[in-house]
Amino acid sequence: MALKENIQSLLAQVEELKANNAEELEALRIKYLSKKGEITALFNEFRNVPNDQKRELGQMLNQLRQEAESRINALREQFEEAAAETDRLDLTRTPDPIALGTRHPLSLVREEIEDIFSRIGFTIAQGPEVEDDKHVYGMLNFAPEHPARDMQDTFFIEKEIGVQKPTDVLLRSHTSSVQTRVMTSQKPPIRVLCPGRVYRNEAISARAHCFFHQVEGLYIDKNVSFADLREALLYFSKEMFGPETKIRLRPSYFPFTEPSAEMDISCNICGGTGCSFCKGTGWVEILGCGMVDPNVLEACGIDSKEYSGFAFGMGVERITNLKYRVKDLRLFSENDVRFLRQFESC
Ligand code: PHE
Repeated sequence: MALKENIQSLLAQVEELKANNAEELEALRIKYLSKKGEITALFNEFRNVPNDQKRELGQMLNQLRQEAESRINALREQFEEAAAETDRLDLTRTPDPIALGTRHPLSLVREEIEDIFSRIGFTIAQGPEVEDDKHVYGMLNFAPEHPARDMQDTFFIEKEIGVQKPTDVLLRSHTSSVQTRVMTSQKPPIRVLCPGRVYRNEAISARAHCFFHQVEGLYIDKNVSFADLREALLYFSKEMFGPETKIRLRPSYFPFTEPSAEMDISCNICGGTGCSFCKGTGWVEILGCGMVDPNVLEACGIDSKEYSGFAFGMGVERITNLKYRVKDLRLFSENDVRFLRQFESC
């Protein structure tokens, strides 16, 4: 083939040069530009070209060599940039994206309850989980022989390990103990919310656990009435479960309140028409409440002729169950990430 055509065909090849890595690129350089390369070979041929063609072919050859060099240099730069990019990677990082933890559903719901009541002036009060009989029962008007103090419900703490003597140190079975502490240390008006963990000696099953969480509330001032209690609880229920929610109060008994009631909300699953969750009644129970018994106020040093108050208490697990349909209580304390991850977006 004449030199001119060889130059043209190599020029076409050079314009299309491709390499996947530095080794392939070096092979191309050797193929075209090394001492034994194809372009170098054409330069050797050039020596035999007749003088009248030297000018034209010389220019073409130079152009070919320049083209090959610049194409190979451009490819080399590409590989060098990619290599620099790799150098910047932090290879000590774990290969998987770092997973963020999730809030525990009980914390989410407890905080929501706290938020709702803080909007009507309640502040948070806390107290010890290891308590004495006086604060958990005595000052709350429990008769000495009241069955709730029985070993069946309350975890008593032995003063000496292994020695079972009568003791008044126990794990609190409700956060009403925080209310007695607040009433004895603060003067009315009092408006507190007492969230916390409580303990009861129950066999663990899907529906009962030996510990769970409560939020109790206490409001003491002059002229506090049962209507105030009802209004506060209606406000809470609508905020928590939606504006359509209705409430009803059924008479009940607690030693520390008189009158006492249990409160139901219209079933938030069927809207009150009746379903398997509310056992066809359209109502679900969510809390206990009542007007603070004058005996309790007096035991805590508050004049029951001047002041009155209401109290209520609810289980956080129960509210969480209604909001998120967690059927088995045990899931709350097992820390199974597959369960907890479901609350990622909450
Ligand atoms: N302390 C009660 C319980 O643990 C709940 C309650 C609180 C009821 C305040 C009435 C008033 O069951």
